[in-house]
Amino acid sequence: MKIAVTGGCGFIGSNFINYICRKHPEYNVINLDKMTYAANPLTLQMLRKYKNHSFVKIDIAEAMEIEQILENCEVIVHFAAETHVDRSLQNAENFLTTDIIGTYRIIEAIRKIKVVKKYIHISTDEVYGSIEKGSFAEDARLNPTNPYAASKASADLLVLSYIRCYKIPAVIVRFVNNFGPFQHPEKFIPLAITNAIENKKIPLYGNGFQMRDWLFVEDTCRAIELLIDRGETGEIYHVSAHQEKRNIDVLKKILALLGKDEKLIVSVPDRIAHDVRYSLSCEKIEKLGFQPARNFDDGLVRTVKWYKENQYWWTFIKNSDEFQKYYKNKYPSL
Ligand SMILES: NC(=O)c1ccc[n+]([C@@H]2O[C@H](COP(=O)([O-])OP(=O)(O)OC[C@H]3O[C@@H](n4cnc5c(N)ncnc54)[C@H](O)[C@@H]3O)[C@@H](O)[C@H]2O)c1
Repeated sequence: MKIAVTGGCGFIGSNFINYICRKHPEYNVINLDKMTYAANPLTLQMLRKYKNHSFVKIDIAEAMEIEQILENCEVIVHFAAETHVDRSLQNAENFLTTDIIGTYRIIEAIRKIKVVKKYIHISTDEVYGSIEKGSFAEDARLNPTNPYAASKASADLLVLSYIRCYKIPAVIVRFVNNFGPFQHPEKFIPLAITNAIENKKIPLYGNGFQMRDWLFVEDTCRAIELLIDRGETGEIYHVSAHQEKRNIDVLKKILALLGKDEKLIVSVPDRIAHDVRYSLSCEKIEKLGFQPARNFDDGLVRTVKWYKENQYWWTFIKNSDEFQKYYKNKYPSL
């Protein structure tokens, strides 16, 4: 089987390629990535060890030749996106271009080439906005509260329209927060781990009482594999491991695992319009047989170990001019 993966040099995309290339040496995986600031070239170097992986550097929002590249692919898993909420609050343009126009180019190619049997459209719990109690079902109203979430919700709506109008074989999957190896150190858990390793202050938004539901990235890969096999065209699926934690409690666990003092945590002004809690009901994918394999504590131990053992990977990003500029601008007091 030939699978195209967009955004395969980012966090979840690279974990997915790693997982699928190892498990299915008979598959042929083609990785389409623009290599933005979010893609570490060291990740691509890691993926190059797989003989059944090939790489094309491409901007999916611009590339008109995308049809030729996807021509013989039976499955497409579309991860490529601008993903950092904080960056979307500073400047949303790249989010609109990649997340919406990029998705349009992919589904338009699928519509024209007609050979794709399954398109897995990767989305997020953020499209629903915050929920105080209970969980959102797959047909809940979309109510995004930041430009990142709005761009993802727009892409989802576009995909739904293509399912209805052109019957493209799409499955939409919305995940809760992922964590694990190869995640960019601008994101909450990797930033905390790497700053703690470096004995640097760890920024915490407001009081840290915001709740997030955490899913270990390998479980995400397993869910996608299941949906490639058994996901029904036209359906939306939610994936979570039902592991809600307050941000402050996650930081305390990380510091305990690394044997560092909680004094490293520093409260910084809260994010604009910060969603307090996300939650998804997941019966639909559970009925297909999905069960997460890793609990939060086990996943966190593995994640911390990975960042401790792979410092070359994240220091490469943290020492870059791009990251230094971003960090100084975002946390002038740290
Ligand atoms: N990380 C999470 O917790 C999470 C949770 C739910 C859903 N998601 C969704 O999963 C997907 C992957 O998220 P991630 O955290 O791995 O993202 P990431 O930011 O780590 O990686 C994104 C990748 O997309 C590539 N990319 C960006 N613009 C591109 C373009 N125009 N053309 C081609 N490639 C481009 C980047 O180079 C990078 O490799 C996204 O669609 C995101 O919305 C993420």
